[in-house]
Amino acid sequence: MLHTPYYLIDKTKLLRNMEKIAYVREHSGAKALLALKCFATWSVFDFMADYMDGTTSSSLYEVRLGREKFGKETHAYSVAYSDGEIAEVIDNADKIIFNSISQLNRFADQASGIVRGLRLNPMVSSSSFDLADPARPFSRLGEWDVAKVEAVMDKISGFMIHNNCENADFGLFDQMLGDIETKFGSLLSRVEWVSLGGGIHFTGENYPLDKFCARLKAFSEKFGVQVYLEPGEASITQSTTLEVSVLDTLFNGKNLAIVDSSIEAHMLDLLIYRENAKVSPNTGEHEYMICGKSCLAGDVFGEFRFENKIEIGDRISIQDAAGYTMVKKNWFNGVGMPSIAIRELDGTERLVREFDFNDYVSSLS
Ligand SMILES: Cc1ncc(COP(=O)(O)O)c(C=O)c1O
Repeated sequence: MLHTPYYLIDKTKLLRNMEKIAYVREHSGAKALLALKCFATWSVFDFMADYMDGTTSSSLYEVRLGREKFGKETHAYSVAYSDGEIAEVIDNADKIIFNSISQLNRFADQASGIVRGLRLNPMVSSSSFDLADPARPFSRLGEWDVAKVEAVMDKISGFMIHNNCENADFGLFDQMLGDIETKFGSLLSRVEWVSLGGGIHFTGENYPLDKFCARLKAFSEKFGVQVYLEPGEASITQSTTLEVSVLDTLFNGKNLAIVDSSIEAHMLDLLIYRENAKVSPNTGEHEYMICGKSCLAGDVFGEFRFENKIEIGDRISIQDAAGYTMVKKNWFNGVGMPSIAIRELDGTERLVREFDFNDYVSSLS
């Protein structure tokens, strides 16, 4: 049995998402690129690469990771490139998407050997979190003024538009795409490709995949463009757990259990968005608040129900621990970093990475 804490990527569960992605590619003609900002655990890239077309990135390091570890088509995007990194980004990418007209103008010549694009911002989004809303007031994420974009059309052959956020509502996706068609239709018909970004929860239960495929196909045919999707969360949703052990139990008006992990260090995104972790099945008569071992007072995974009383040494699986989780893990409090393990399709578990004191020391100087 592996030592906790560890992230456990279950390939059988990952496969469910991969098969849905492959279905969408086949029936819509869209290409699917893994968004590395969400998930960059490269030990499963060989497996994922059979079902996806490549990767998209948000920085020099991500684009390099995509090229070196995933292969296939490699898209580069960044909110802003520096003079010092642009050459290496171009060397590692098949396409580069600039966030602003200013960046496009600055680096267009240097990038003339690869495909160039621009990010558009339709100024509407599906996000309910201001923090994650690309269309928030004064957003820096992409250009919205058609007249200004007209002036640089000779430098680009495509657009990237990312304005969905964990959007599980096909009707809303359809409506927002319609809005994009109205706002940017005159531009879209002049390019060869359009990436619709990520944030579409199309691998979720009961998502109407056939309607989704038909809508993507209609969009592609209307404007004569190759459509790309950039699924992050949709690629890895429900595939991974964080396996932890109980170190201590207390009663302070509520039953508390302290585990050998930390929400702040190992599932930071939940803390940022004030969300609870998930434990399954979350049934039974014993209720516990599952707490992390960092010194942060609010280092709490959430309150969950269990069939039995929790004892020191018990193991708990925290669900859905892949997206925006492993990429954000950190060394707060020097809490031991979870290892990474893979459950193969035949059920065997394999440890692929362990971290120790030297990794902690080498993360600072
Ligand atoms: C440009 C772009 N593409 C793709 C994604 C991936 O989104 P998700 O993980 O919600 O699918 C994001 C997320 O922020 C993004 O900004």
